[in-house]
Amino acid sequence: MSNDHDHHDGNDDHELRVSKIRDGTVIDHVRGGQALNVLAILGIDGTNGEEVSVGMNVPSNRFARKDIVKVEGRELSQDEVDVLSLIAPDATINIVRDYDVVEKHRVERPDVVEGVLSCPNAGCITTGDEPVTSRFTVLEDGVRCSYCETIVREEIASLIET
Ligand code: CTP
Ligand code: ZN
Repeated sequence: MSNDHDHHDGNDDHELRVSKIRDGTVIDHVRGGQALNVLAILGIDGTNGEEVSVGMNVPSNRFARKDIVKVEGRELSQDEVDVLSLIAPDATINIVRDYDVVEKHRVERPDVVEGVLSCPNAGCITTGDEPVTSRFTVLEDGVRCSYCETIVREEIASLIET
């Protein structure tokens, strides 16, 4: 992988906006405005002393603007990456060890997510007293409850089960 330590975020060659990390994960090419939702998905609110850097609406070559989230000392689970893909479909996950990017992969959108989002429809069988695991089909531009067909396009992050 790239050993180009002079490489800068975005297309501004004059400053590095967010410091490099030593060991952890860089979630790059997040849609502008989604960084806080990425943190919510990862369960990071700063209270556990996590070392996290966030860049919001920084210049990007691929998009006009992007967000970037760097988490020191943490590698993500496949479940976390699946949920991330719903709000950051173009994200790149970079695993960093000893300052080098040792793994880089694009998130992949799963066809279906089970047990990760709760249906916003109060009348849905998945939100009743009998436990039924939630199930959503992933659409091009949102998710659809497999039980009541409710479609959610915006605010998917707010449906994440805790
Ligand atoms: N990065 C970091 N800390 C490191 C190494 C890399 O924070 N020790 C960040 C870089 O700043 C960049 C991302 O991880 O935002 C990916 O690094 P790299 O692959 O070197 O950059 P690019 O080649 O620009 O990646 P891409 O082609 O995916 O845009
Ligand atoms: Zn439903």
